[in-house]
Amino acid sequence: MKRVLRLAYVFLSVVGIVLDGAHFRGGIISWRPLNNTVQGTTAQIQIHQRYFWNREWGSFSAPYCTEANVAAKTSIPVNEDMKCLANCSSSNYPSVGLSTIMTTTDCDSNPIIESWAGERYDTLTMPLTTSITIGYQSSAWFASLYIGANDPWSIVNRLNLATRPDGYINSSPVTTTLPVVFYPRNVRVTHVVQMADNDATDTLICRWSTSASGTNYNRADECGGVCMGLPPITTILTGINCTLSFTLPTANLYYGCALQIEDYFSSSSPNPMSSVPIQFLFYAYNIASGACANAPAIIGVRPNRACIGVPVGVPLTETIEIQTYCPGQTIVDLVTSSPIGMTHSAISNPSPGLWIMTLSWTPAASQDGPQGFCAGAVDNSSLQSAPWCLTYLVDYDSPNLILPQVVQGSASPIATSAVGRPSRNGTNVCFHLDTTNASVLCYDAGYSPNVIYTGYTIVIVTTITWTPGESYYVTMDSGFASGSVFCHAESAPITDKTFWRFDIWNPALSSTTTTTTTPPTTHTVTSLGTTTTSINTACTTSGIVVTSTNASTTTTTVTTTPPTTAGPTTAGPTTTGATTESTIPVFYPADFESACKQPVAIMSAVTMVAFMPVHALAMYAAFTKFSNMFKPSNTAAKARHQQRMKNILRR
Ligand SMILES: *[C@@H]1O[C@H](CO)[C@@H](O)[C@H](O)[C@H]1NC(C)=O
Ligand SMILES: *[C@@H]1O[C@H](CO)[C@@H](O)[C@H](O)[C@H]1NC(C)=O
Ligand SMILES: *[C@@H]1O[C@H](CO)[C@@H](O)[C@H](O)[C@H]1NC(C)=O
Ligand SMILES: *[C@@H]1O[C@H](CO)[C@@H](O)[C@H](O)[C@H]1NC(C)=O
Repeated sequence: MKRVLRLAYVFLSVVGIVLDGAHFRGGIISWRPLNNTVQGTTAQIQIHQRYFWNREWGSFSAPYCTEANVAAKTSIPVNEDMKCLANCSSSNYPSVGLSTIMTTTDCDSNPIIESWAGERYDTLTMPLTTSITIGYQSSAWFASLYIGANDPWSIVNRLNLATRPDGYINSSPVTTTLPVVFYPRNVRVTHVVQMADNDATDTLICRWSTSASGTNYNRADECGGVCMGLPPITTILTGINCTLSFTLPTANLYYGCALQIEDYFSSSSPNPMSSVPIQFLFYAYNIASGACANAPAIIGVRPNRACIGVPVGVPLTETIEIQTYCPGQTIVDLVTSSPIGMTHSAISNPSPGLWIMTLSWTPAASQDGPQGFCAGAVDNSSLQSAPWCLTYLVDYDSPNLILPQVVQGSASPIATSAVGRPSRNGTNVCFHLDTTNASVLCYDAGYSPNVIYTGYTIVIVTTITWTPGESYYVTMDSGFASGSVFCHAESAPITDKTFWRFDIWNPALSSTTTTTTTPPTTHTVTSLGTTTTSINTACTTSGIVVTSTNASTTTTTVTTTPPTTAGPTTAGPTTTGATTESTIPVFYPADFESACKQPVAIMSAVTMVAFMPVHALAMYAAFTKFSNMFKPSNTAAKARHQQRMKNILRR
C-alpha cells in the first residue's frame, strides 16, 4: 500500500509537466472511420496513437513504470500534441492538435529494453473534404543510436477522407511491432514488418520514411533524425511484403527503423489513400560464448499471426508458451506490445525448456475493431525469439466448432458462423492414435488440397489406411475454420481428445452373421446424384447417410483402396446381398452444393456451417481422385504441431 501511494505521488508530481530529454523510441499512428458508409458530409474518425518511451528519463526515478501501472492504466505524462502539418484548411482538425498523453500498456525493465509503451484513441467528427497530414514532432531520440542520436523525432500520418472508388470511406492500414527487436551483429537477417488493412482488397506497400517534405506524399518530414537509420548500403526493403534484409555492424547499439505503410486502391493506383508510420528499434548484440545455438521460440498456444475474435466485456486469458533449447537457457524477459488493459503475469517455468506467461484482458467497448498484440522472448544471453503477434478483433465472434452431432450414424462438427480457408499456413487438422497419441496424419488447412472449403462446407479427404480395431481422435489447430471478416478470425484450437473420436470397426472381431451392423465395406464409394428425389432428407441430416438405399444414385468401386485386411472387403456384402446397405454415400463438395441448394440456404440461416465427412465409415473411404495430388513439404508445420501437442499432453 505504501508503495502504491508512493507511486501515486511520483505520478501526481509529474503529470502536467512537459517532459523532454532523450527518451523517444518510436511509435505508430493509424485511423479508421467508425462506420465506413458515407452518411452526409462528415464522418467519425477514430485516431490511434501508440508510442514507445525510455522508461528512465527526465524527472522519473525508480521504480519508473511497473506492471502495476499497466493494470492501473496510468497515464504517461508526455503532455504534447499531434498537430496538423499540411493542407490543414481542408479539415476541422483541432489546431491545438490531439494530446500525446498515453495510457500505459507495457512496461519493460530489461536493461536493454527499458521501454514504457502506451496508446491512446481519440474520435473526431471531420468533414469528408479532410485531406491532411498529422504528426507528432518533438525532441529527442535517445543517445545510443547508430544514426540519429539525440536528434529530433517526427512521426506523421496522412488522413484522407475522400470517398474511395468503391464508395466507402477509407481505413488506414494497421501494423504492430515490438519496441526493440534483437539481432546478432554481423549476421544478415530478414525481418518482416506486419501490415494489414480492414479494406481487404487494398494493395499495401511499405517504403522508407523520408525527410523530403517537398516531394514526399505526406508533404512533411516523416522521420526526423532516423530517416534511414539502418546501414544504408547493406539494407534492402521489399515494399510489397514489408520485408527488410540487413546486417547490423556494431554491437550494443540501437538502430532506428522508420517506415510508412501505404494503402493503394489497386496495384495500378498512382497514389496511396493513407500513410501509416511505424518507427521502432533494432538492437545488435555479440553472441555470448555460452549462448545456446538456438534462440528461444514462442510456440503457442495460439500460433504467430493468428487473428482471434473476442466479445466486449468478457474476461479473456491467453497463454504464451516459450520453448528453450539448452540447459541453463533462461527466459529473462518477454517484450510485449499490448492493448490497453491487458496485464502480464510473471514468467513461470513449469517444466524444463518450457516457459509460460499468462495475459489477462477484458476488451472494452471503446476498443472495438482490431487490437494488436506482439511478444518476443529474451533469454539470458540476449537471444530474442522471433516476434509473435496476434490480432484481436474486438466485438466479433470467431467461428467456433462445436461438438459433432451424431445424426443417423454420422457426425458433423458445426461452426457458429460462416467459415473459409485460414489465411496462413501451419493450420493443421491431425488424426491421432488414441493409444499412443501419435499423429498418423496431418493436413495443413492453409493450403492442403485434401481440405476443401467450398461455400459453407469443409470436407476432409483422406487416403489413410486406418487400422481396424483402433481408436482415433482428431485435433484442429487454431484457425481450422476461419471467419470472413478482416483478418479472418479463427476458430479456437481443438486439442481435447474427446472432442472428436472414432473407432475403426474390426471385422475380425465381428460375427459374420451379424450382418446389418453398418460397418464398412470401404471399397465402395458412392457419390450423390443430383436427381434423386430424396436428397433433401440427406441434406437436412448432416449430409452423410451411412446406410442408405435411396440417396445414392451412382456407385463406383474404387479399386486402389487402402483397406489392407481381408475383412472389410467382404464382410458387409456377403450377408446383405445385393442391397446397398453397406455402401457409403459421400458428398463431394460440388455434389453437396448442387444437391442441396435449398438446404444450404436453410442451413446458413441456422448457421450450420462446417460440414465434414467425419464418421469412421466416411474416413474409411478412399478417394483415388485426390491421392496423387501434390503434397508440399509441411514438415515444419508438422513439427510445430507436434511440439505443441507435446506441451499440451505434458500438462
Ligand atoms: C453504418 O451506417 C449504415 C447507414 O446508416 C448502417 O446501415 C450500418 O449498419 C452501419 N454499420 C455499422 C457497422 O454500424
Ligand atoms: C488539400 O485538400 C483539398 C480538399 O480536400 C484537396 O482537394 C487537395 O487535394 C488537398 N491537397 C493536398 C496536397 O493534399
Ligand atoms: C517478399 O517478396 C520478395 C519479392 O517477391 C520475395 O523474394 C521474398 O521472399 C518475400 N519475403 C517474404 C518474407 O515473404
Ligand atoms: C544463463 O543462466 C543459466 C542459469 O543461471 C546459466 O547456467 C547459464 O550459464 C547462463 N548463460 C549465460 C550465457 O549467461
